[in-house]
Amino acid sequence: MDTFLSVFLLLTLTAPLPTQSFHNNHLHNNNNDSDIFDVVDHGAIGDGHTDDTQAFKDAWEATCMSSSSSPTMHIPTGKTFLLNPLTFGGECKSKSINFVIDGDIIAPSEPPSWRCHNNICGAWIVFYEVDGLNISGSGTIDGQGSNWWDYSCKNVLDIAHCNNVHLSKLSFKDSPQMHIRLQTSTWVYISNITITAPGDSPNTDGIHIRKCTNVFIDDSVIGTGDDCISIGNESSNLTISRIVCGPGHGISIGSLGQAGDDGQVEYVHVSDVQFKGTTNGARIKTWQGGKGYVRHIVFERIMCTDAAQPIIIDQFYCDHTRCTNHTSAVQVSNVTYSNIYGTSSYTKPAVKLACSESVPCTDIFMNNVTLRSNRDGRKATTYCLDAYGRVQGEIVPPVPCLTHR
Ligand SMILES: *[C@@H]1O[C@H](CO)[C@@H](O)[C@H](O)[C@H]1NC(C)=O
Ligand SMILES: *[C@@H]1O[C@H](CO)[C@@H](O)[C@H](O)[C@H]1NC(C)=O
Ligand SMILES: *[C@@H]1O[C@H](CO)[C@@H](O)[C@H](O)[C@H]1NC(C)=O
Ligand SMILES: *[C@@H]1O[C@H](CO)[C@@H](O)[C@H](O)[C@H]1NC(C)=O
Ligand SMILES: *[C@@H]1O[C@H](CO)[C@@H](O)[C@H](O)[C@H]1NC(C)=O
Ligand SMILES: *[C@@H]1O[C@H](CO)[C@@H](O)[C@H](O)[C@H]1NC(C)=O
Ligand SMILES: *[C@@H]1O[C@H](CO)[C@@H](O)[C@H](O)[C@H]1NC(C)=O
Ligand SMILES: *[C@@H]1O[C@H](CO)[C@@H](O)[C@H](O)[C@H]1NC(C)=O
Repeated sequence: MDTFLSVFLLLTLTAPLPTQSFHNNHLHNNNNDSDIFDVVDHGAIGDGHTDDTQAFKDAWEATCMSSSSSPTMHIPTGKTFLLNPLTFGGECKSKSINFVIDGDIIAPSEPPSWRCHNNICGAWIVFYEVDGLNISGSGTIDGQGSNWWDYSCKNVLDIAHCNNVHLSKLSFKDSPQMHIRLQTSTWVYISNITITAPGDSPNTDGIHIRKCTNVFIDDSVIGTGDDCISIGNESSNLTISRIVCGPGHGISIGSLGQAGDDGQVEYVHVSDVQFKGTTNGARIKTWQGGKGYVRHIVFERIMCTDAAQPIIIDQFYCDHTRCTNHTSAVQVSNVTYSNIYGTSSYTKPAVKLACSESVPCTDIFMNNVTLRSNRDGRKATTYCLDAYGRVQGEIVPPVPCLTHR
């Protein structure tokens, strides 16, 4: 053994074993309020091959059980951690938990590893019943979805039954299905995130929201193969702003009312959005035969570039070839479209309001909507059926049916 190696070993063996991480001094504040639980100190390897699931579980257990007022679970930069499906459950002692993802997290690429795990089938990384959670960092969460798009239905990140959640800065890519699903949660703030998946990857919604109130999503860039943001039943008081969306299907409320279901969505405010090459833009879609409502919705300050159908209400939504006609419908009312500009594809009506004859759309208000065809010599068109309301300012193409009764 040469001297260099023996000195190295001696130093290694005599170094104190890290019990708690103190090498992340930049994350410490100087009072003892904050405690950092680093996944590497709990055995994570971060080589992109070793399964680090148990280390993450242990680090979470320590973070969640910590009695410090604001503990941090830290995933360090410069490493790639392979995780199998995993739930970070509450309730935790602290109501202010930081979850800092500076490294990258990847899903197993082989389908069999994604079987149900502890009864969690629909998602990969789940936060459940955590009250007061701040998820942030410069890392990427990679669903490795390309192996999955054909035959899987998994979401990358599920936030369920949580209250007071901040999610910021992270990047998400290639989910097998939805990238982020928020459900049965309230006071959720999402900002400065990036979500990317190919435009032809099926059902890869950026963010899906259901059964949530008080959700704020802003300053984010989302391009996927399905809705950038989709809003499901029992959602209210949602504020969505400063989003760049595309490719994808746009920002959608629905679909609601399938198979006679009751759908309830209200107080959704979408503003300062760019739709780039999306198949739809500001969309509301409901199935025939449903009940309930979509109401008090605002879409404003929206810029479209080559969006196929920038404004669409479709009360005849049907994702299979044959749907039967019904007289009942989810009622759509009090929807404002204000200051919507840009280009649409000439292949479809730029403005499509297809409402139910028996349950028409009411109080649809348009103010300054100017959409031009992206092809010279082609005019943007309107399709309008059973939609009523009023217009103000410049409306191109005209939507005269709104004011006829
Ligand atoms: C942190 O805790 C240690 C031991 O519990 C104590 O000696 C130290 O003074 C504390 N530091 C601050 C800034 O409170
Ligand atoms: C969340 O954590 C990040 C990184 O530590 C910090 O910059 C941000 O201010 C925190 N947000 C909240 C709401 O505490
Ligand atoms: C979020 O993004 C906006 C717009 O790009 C930027 O002004 C803001 O500083 C960012 N915030 C953080 C916390 O990075
Ligand atoms: C809706 O959101 C606003 C903030 O935008 C908040 O002040 C209000 O309390 C929320 N309403 C409900 C019913 O939670
Ligand atoms: C939608 O929400 C309403 C109101 O809470 C509820 O009554 C209904 O059952 C929900 N519909 C579905 C399909 O979950
Ligand atoms: C229509 O919706 C807007 C925006 O949510 C709301 O401020 C307004 O009160 C609603 N109007 C009626 C008549 O309910
Ligand atoms: C459903 O209604 C539409 C529009 O009124 C009509 O064209 C279509 O034939 C109807 N379909 C069936 C199956 O009755
Ligand atoms: C509508 O457009 C007109 C002319 O472009 C502008 O003066 C007006 O402020 C706009 N209305 C709103 C509510 O922004």
